[in-house]
Amino acid sequence: MSNSIVPDSLAALTSSSMSTTQCDPTAERLATRSSTVIVLDDGTTISVRPVRPDDEPHMAVLHGHLSDQTVRFRYFANTPLHTRIDHARLKRICHPDLDQDIVLVAEHRLPHRKTELIGVARLDRQADPKVGEIALLVVDHWQRHTLGAHLFDLMIAIAKQEKLGRIFITFHRENRLMRLLCDHRGFITSQPVDETFTRSDLRL
Ligand SMILES: CC(C)(COP(=O)(O)OP(=O)(O)OC[C@H]1O[C@@H](n2cnc3c(N)ncnc32)[C@H](O)[C@@H]1OP(=O)(O)O)[C@@H](O)C(=O)NCCC(=O)NCCS
Repeated sequence: MSNSIVPDSLAALTSSSMSTTQCDPTAERLATRSSTVIVLDDGTTISVRPVRPDDEPHMAVLHGHLSDQTVRFRYFANTPLHTRIDHARLKRICHPDLDQDIVLVAEHRLPHRKTELIGVARLDRQADPKVGEIALLVVDHWQRHTLGAHLFDLMIAIAKQEKLGRIFITFHRENRLMRLLCDHRGFITSQPVDETFTRSDLRL
């Protein structure tokens, strides 16, 4: 599947980051999280940007559009909608602690200045701050149109800019798309952790 826009997006991220590198590491990190535009395989342009507190209602709508399989693949359980859109939970996600957690959202513009969130990517620092766990979520209707690949590539680039030494992602053993995404990017997939999960690691 073609993914040709990603290098440009990454170049933009890298150059905006590099332009502030010498002055202030905090500014560098904020620049890393500026908005970027990606183009899906069907030509749709999507804006990817850091999550904001006012995304909370849009995040709840996103959760309403997830199939049971997508929920199981993302949360490894049939986590019900009311739990996923619980205010305290969404508030935490939409107000990330920047030292701990990076959350990007993919935003699709609708007519009449409305927007919808169609994807979320997270990078969580672990107890060892040089290690980060990535998680990806694309709304069913938008799956298999390269959005997951774009979000993954952006998160890998951010992890490198954050100078992490290793990133990993845990996914369901039946999650073929996630396995392909990892294989194509040089991740090493371990033996399944148990009957349900497997894990892929990438040294940066
Ligand atoms: C897994 C997930 C993030 C992938 O995102 P996506 O936008 O659906 O997938 P993409 O279109 O980017 O395709 C992913 C890979 O599958 C392959 N693929 C996509 N569509 C395909 C198709 N129709 N046939 C064969 N392979 C296909 C591509 O090779 C691609 O890998 P590449 O870009 O390295 O070549 C998304 O499906 C999702 O959110 N699933 C539910 C939650 C989840 O599983 N999260 C991961 C664990 S945290």
